Amino acid sequence: MPLVTSSEMFKKAYEGKYAVGAFNVNNMEIIQGIVDAAKEEQSALILQVSAGARKYAKHIYLMKLVEAAIIDSGLPICLHLDHGADFEICKMCVDGGFTSVMIDGSHLPFEENIALTKKVVEYAHANGVTVEGELGRLAGVEDAVKVSAKDASYTDPDQAVEFVQRTGVDSLAIAIGTSHGAYKFKDEPQLDFARLEKISNLLPGYPLVLHGASTVLPEFVEKCNNYGGEIQGAQGVPEDMLLRAGKFGVCKINIDTDLRLAMTASIREHFAKNPSDFDPRQYLSPARDAIKAMVKHKIKNVLNSSNSL
Ligand code: G3H
Ligand code: 13P
Ligand code: ZN
Repeated sequence: MPLVTSSEMFKKAYEGKYAVGAFNVNNMEIIQGIVDAAKEEQSALILQVSAGARKYAKHIYLMKLVEAAIIDSGLPICLHLDHGADFEICKMCVDGGFTSVMIDGSHLPFEENIALTKKVVEYAHANGVTVEGELGRLAGVEDAVKVSAKDASYTDPDQAVEFVQRTGVDSLAIAIGTSHGAYKFKDEPQLDFARLEKISNLLPGYPLVLHGASTVLPEFVEKCNNYGGEIQGAQGVPEDMLLRAGKFGVCKINIDTDLRLAMTASIREHFAKNPSDFDPRQYLSPARDAIKAMVKHKIKNVLNSSNSL
């Protein structure tokens, strides 16, 4: 079973009204925990690598670990570049065997975002690789409460249609109120479902992507903090909102923070209970199990992607 692109996965997800989890990976234990969970749930799976992860672990190590995961599990896996900042990193990942790349031109003026995304699409498609673009800026905690900031930064539905048509991009990350990290909302969590519905209606059959979609489950923040952590805030995207997004063409949901919290809580607990331990296998085994449990939870309760293979 080789690495696969996102095309088939998104087609099935759109029709089945579920989302494929795109989980950020940085090392072997994270990859193993995620893949084990997806295998047990027989779920479609995207593993994504940020520029920071690529720098930390090196492209070749992550590539080979994912290849090993495919051989070991027999699962079809899509290997995706998360938040590619420029053409060069996208090209390196296409040339280096990734089956999907994101070009994130969301900070650029509209025309410049189109030009950059189109350039990546042309190169990637010529090499059989799918591309995710982004239009609109993810909310900051302060932005979410200001209507003017919201209109300026959230994805404009008509622009989304023009962006997709002019770039030929395979999927589009949109801004409707989610944000990266462990502290997403100052007040009541709110997503702009009216905007999502409008975008989805204007782009029938087209896969949308939600970044910044961790739920930041309080029990994991508390566990980190009970064992000496000082993590601020715990306001993530509620699970029912993410499940609902899957009904409006959201085919890919990005999750990183929740994995970090699960892994860190487990390692903190281990050292609090075993202060004299210094064998990495002793603390990385439960950490890997914690990643697996978190991913199973996501597949069942947030993505609805069990038995999607
Ligand atoms: O959206 C960003 C991801 O959570 C990756 O984070 O750049 O620290 O690897 P990172
Ligand atoms: P979270 O920080 O909410 O996990 O989002 C991750 C993400 O969007 C990666 O691209
Ligand atoms: Zn992101």
